[in-house]
Amino acid sequence: MIWTENLTKVFKQRKEKKKGLLPKRKTGVTAVDHVSFEVDRGTVYGLIGANGAGKTTLVKVLSTLVLPTSGEAKVCGYSIIKEDRKVRASIGLATGTERSFYFRLSGWQNVWFFGVLQGMAHSELKRRMEELMKSLDIYSERDKQFMQYSLGEKRKLDLVRCLLTDPPVFFLDEPTTSIDPYSAIKIRDTVRELKERGKTILLVTHNLDEAEKLCDRVGIMDKGKLVKEGSLGFLKEEARTKRVSIALEEIPSQVLLDKFKVFGEVKSQKESKEIEILLSDGRRLSQLIDLVNSQDVRVESLNTHEPSLEQIFLKYTRSEKSGEA
Ligand SMILES: Nc1ncnc2c1ncn2[C@@H]1O[C@H](COP(=O)(O)OP(=O)(O)O)[C@@H](O)[C@H]1O
Ligand SMILES: [Mg+2]
Repeated sequence: MIWTENLTKVFKQRKEKKKGLLPKRKTGVTAVDHVSFEVDRGTVYGLIGANGAGKTTLVKVLSTLVLPTSGEAKVCGYSIIKEDRKVRASIGLATGTERSFYFRLSGWQNVWFFGVLQGMAHSELKRRMEELMKSLDIYSERDKQFMQYSLGEKRKLDLVRCLLTDPPVFFLDEPTTSIDPYSAIKIRDTVRELKERGKTILLVTHNLDEAEKLCDRVGIMDKGKLVKEGSLGFLKEEARTKRVSIALEEIPSQVLLDKFKVFGEVKSQKESKEIEILLSDGRRLSQLIDLVNSQDVRVESLNTHEPSLEQIFLKYTRSEKSGEA
């Protein structure tokens, strides 16, 4: 339903003039760099990446708000360049940008305005707005001015607007970022319902837990590039990292801790009998167990844990920005 090949967007930027000494020079920011991926019908694709990775730009290009510099993309089989009107008629877009609403109009008036713009019949529009606002718990707030809405209510209203015409494809750009847990849960439920109804969803999120719960596939973006993608199971397998926690019957010697370091990062508190080892290659687990057995220590317990999406994310985006996730 969504398909791209080598999709690239370079923003031309004028470098700041240095006190008139240098002429203005044009430099580019490659926000989306040769991105190729596909999203199947009826699935949720999660896009994760640090701030500035290019996620929003990718969404804007796919929803025809911004033209790509090169590459191709199709949504519902329509070219985003040659058939942009058909693409727009097939998608719902929630960008989370408040400026796309009129601050002095009420929530109801805002959505009504956009529904009329899309050519919806008044009776149908009214029915749909009531239904959606009720299901997202903002019907009672419908007559409040947009500027008085809380962030959670604004995001919900954005979602109501994007759901109006019930299109087959949705682009949701950080729909749950910085809002209260109740609103976030409501929005996640809505995404789940959409998926159950066979809709295709591209979900940009900073919440890796949310991505684990909602997404069939996940793509990791870093500096404009799609550095890794796949199903969660695949990513976990591929990342090959495993966390092993071992509880010993006595405090481990420094010599033993150093031996563990061969397998990956070792975490242990001073004077503690518990050690945590981040196996850089999960397949070396048996070697680790051999090592433990060959030592003169008794083991109380040994547990292995799958890597979390967070660990996978950090593994593939290790850069100065990796802390932001
Ligand atoms: N309109 C624009 N003009 C110039 N540069 C832009 C524009 N929009 C985004 N960028 C740049 O493109 C890069 C990616 O931004 P963005 O797509 O917003 O990232 P994300 O959504 O992943 O945080 C950033 O370096 C950003 O500064
Ligand atoms: Mg963004």
